[in-house]
Amino acid sequence: MTKNELKKMAGYAALEYIKHNMIVGVGSGSTVNYFIDILSTQKKLIKGTVSSSIASTNKLISLNIPIIDSNNVDNVDVYIDGTDEFNPDLMMIKGGGAALTCEKVIAAMSKKFIAIADKSKKVTILGNFPLPVEVIPMARSFVSRQLTKLGGIPKYRENVVTDNGNIILDIHNLNIINPIDLENKINSISGVVTVGLFANRAADVVLLASPTGVEKLLSKK
Ligand code: 5RP
Repeated sequence: MTKNELKKMAGYAALEYIKHNMIVGVGSGSTVNYFIDILSTQKKLIKGTVSSSIASTNKLISLNIPIIDSNNVDNVDVYIDGTDEFNPDLMMIKGGGAALTCEKVIAAMSKKFIAIADKSKKVTILGNFPLPVEVIPMARSFVSRQLTKLGGIPKYRENVVTDNGNIILDIHNLNIINPIDLENKINSISGVVTVGLFANRAADVVLLASPTGVEKLLSKK
């Protein structure tokens, strides 16, 4: 089975969590694109979607799926998003698609956070995937120096400007033993908008696709 076939299985499996009149948070990326495709079959059932990126918004619009401004809702009933890596506590690295800040806001607004993943995303310790950090442009060098002090090797993601007009530094060579501590430390650096470590707000469920089917991994919290 190809990786795309597995992503499609995970994306389609998330439909189980979509119920009548819900406000649905929609993440970003290739796995989420499959979820949006299947969500379009239920667009009359839901109240609307809150989107995490311009790319997802454009796809939702193209399929006539209703969108609600995040400022006009108190919370989202369920948030469906992809992940770059997740650990046994369902903590994640996200932001491979540079949409991490809006994704983190919607995750924080969500009553239930469902991550959809193919089997390549499962790890024991986070950090093999370079950890994305969204940074305001004038703070790039300062933040890079602070990230180096934390033990990583930050690399500027060339030719990428986020939906919020910022830049991305990807931190290589991390072995993230204490994800909550690292998330808090990086968030406290001046000039950092968001770190793509989702540890304080981990997923509630991971839908993990492999050739034998979609496994449901539940948070132990
Ligand atoms: C975007 C993300 C994506 O969810 C993550 O990169 C996974 O992407 P894909 O489903 O294409 O593998 O965090 O910022």
